[in-house]
Amino acid sequence: MPAEAWKAMWARPSNALWLRLCAWGNVIGDRVTFGLLKGVDLSGGTILDLGCGHARTTMAIMHRFGARSLTGVDFCEEALESVKRRRGDLAVRTIHSDLMSLDLDERFDLVFSAYVAEHFWGDLRLPAIQQHARFAKEGGHVLIIVPGPSFLSRAVNAACNTPSGINQVNFTRVEINNLFTRAGLRVVGTRNLLFGSTLYTLGRKVKPSG
Ligand SMILES: C[S@@+](CC[C@H](N)C(=O)[O-])C[C@H]1O[C@@H](n2cnc3c(N)ncnc32)[C@H](O)[C@@H]1O
Repeated sequence: MPAEAWKAMWARPSNALWLRLCAWGNVIGDRVTFGLLKGVDLSGGTILDLGCGHARTTMAIMHRFGARSLTGVDFCEEALESVKRRRGDLAVRTIHSDLMSLDLDERFDLVFSAYVAEHFWGDLRLPAIQQHARFAKEGGHVLIIVPGPSFLSRAVNAACNTPSGINQVNFTRVEINNLFTRAGLRVVGTRNLLFGSTLYTLGRKVKPSG
């Protein structure tokens, strides 16, 4: 999806009811995310957030697990401005870039994205997941959160994305697991929320065989 469509989304005012529903969703989502990351040692570690938006979840992960730094990538300046306003004294830097053309020498302990990968479909699906795997350290982790194939996720898409001209193709559990494997990530944990409306997948970057 082009950055212009996302800029239109960032410019839309949010109503109070929607913000309240999101706040509840965030409380539940954080519990699931923290539970999935329970066995991962992120203390003093580094996090990359692709399509970071406000980077709310990754800042919460930093607090909870004692990560040292966070790099948030987004192609909307409005998103990055929001991150700068919220970061307080956390070591958070922002990069203005399309995640697909991001080129960094650094590798991270955790590469994260939430509600981003579903906006890549067809031939772009695998390269989008590979771009996550690419920036993980060997033995490091990738956590991707995407909508699953439920009525609820289709309804949220219709309410939030369609008015701004943003399209998405929801994942199935089989598809996301298969893409992780093809990208060189061993799936080490999964969670499904609200009857499969949200799919959480945690993978570990493994050495390429051969
Ligand atoms: C639905 S929002 C999710 C934001 C955040 N990850 C969260 O969970 O709240 C998707 C974000 O991804 C960004 N985005 C979408 N496609 C992108 C791309 N190709 N490169 C960089 N950012 C992208 C959008 O600007 C937007 O901020």
